[in-house]
Amino acid sequence: MNILVTGVKGQLGSHMRLLGPLSRHRYLFTDVEELDITDRDAVNGFVERNSVDCIVNCAAYTNVELAEDEESKALRINAGAVRILADAMRERGGWLFHVSTDYVFGGDKYNTPCGEELPTNPVGAYGRTKLAGEEEIKASGCHYVIIRTAWLYSEYGKNFVKTMLTLTGSKPMLNVVYDQVGSPTYAGDLARAMFQIIEDGRYEGNDGIYNYSNEGVCSWYDLTKEITRQSGNAQCNVQPCRSSEFPSKVTRPSYSVLDKSKIKRVFGVAVPYWVDSLQECIDNIQTCAEGGCGDGR
Ligand SMILES: NC(=O)c1ccc[n+]([C@@H]2O[C@H](COP(=O)([O-])OP(=O)(O)OC[C@H]3O[C@@H](n4cnc5c(N)ncnc54)[C@H](OP(=O)(O)O)[C@@H]3O)[C@@H](O)[C@H]2O)c1
Repeated sequence: MNILVTGVKGQLGSHMRLLGPLSRHRYLFTDVEELDITDRDAVNGFVERNSVDCIVNCAAYTNVELAEDEESKALRINAGAVRILADAMRERGGWLFHVSTDYVFGGDKYNTPCGEELPTNPVGAYGRTKLAGEEEIKASGCHYVIIRTAWLYSEYGKNFVKTMLTLTGSKPMLNVVYDQVGSPTYAGDLARAMFQIIEDGRYEGNDGIYNYSNEGVCSWYDLTKEITRQSGNAQCNVQPCRSSEFPSKVTRPSYSVLDKSKIKRVFGVAVPYWVDSLQECIDNIQTCAEGGCGDGR
């Protein structure tokens, strides 16, 4: 099988790139410089030239704050381009593996893990555009697996874990919100889950939406405390605060916990505990800081 991966310079795409060489399939890795997914002719040409049977879409517009001012740009990438990928797979009878977000929820108050069937109700531009992407895939008629994830972090790119590693290593004190809870997701784990689903071929007959995050629940405050413990930055005094103390134009879901029973049942993927995965990521970051991994980490 020929598998196109888009957005490989991002957090998730970088981890997919590490896994590609382990596959029996032929992986083709691209980012926007090689393939702009908003360009229908370019996508169709690439898919035809390389006989692509499967697309793993790691490309997205992910700046949640900026999306409030650039919703049409976010929509073009998170929905218009997704339709282009979906149409290309429908034409070839192939599969689209796509990643969506907990931000499709948030407008309703709930305090139990969100199942895939829970009615969506995004509160911001980013969530609206990602939900529109899901709708485009369903409307296209292609075969698809959509994986909704949350609180994604990795050794690559910018994310909360890397920011907090730097801040707790340099500041004597830090206030972090405790009234938003969720499940962090290590991009390495999500990439391994997607890779395994594709390798096993168990997606056949299992089109649909699935949730994936790491196991367990914490607040941003708890996550930061664990970062200080694992990294050795315990000298930083981390204190809990409310999100109202950090005014933002984005309303973030206060309870971002996804129910993962479906993906475990259907695909048999392992879901590591968030504390263990955080340790893996921090170990990698610290090893690279000492020795230099030279690949963007
Ligand atoms: N980050 C989170 O907390 C989070 C949470 C839930 C779900 N997700 C979803 O998880 C997926 C992966 O997220 P991530 O954090 O790995 O994203 P990321 O690090 O922002 O990477 C996205 C990549 O897509 C590229 N890209 C943007 N526009 C493109 C285009 N027109 N054509 C081709 N490539 C393009 C970006 O390039 P540039 O950098 O040059 O724009 C970037 O390399 C996304 O679908 C995201 O919505 C993320």
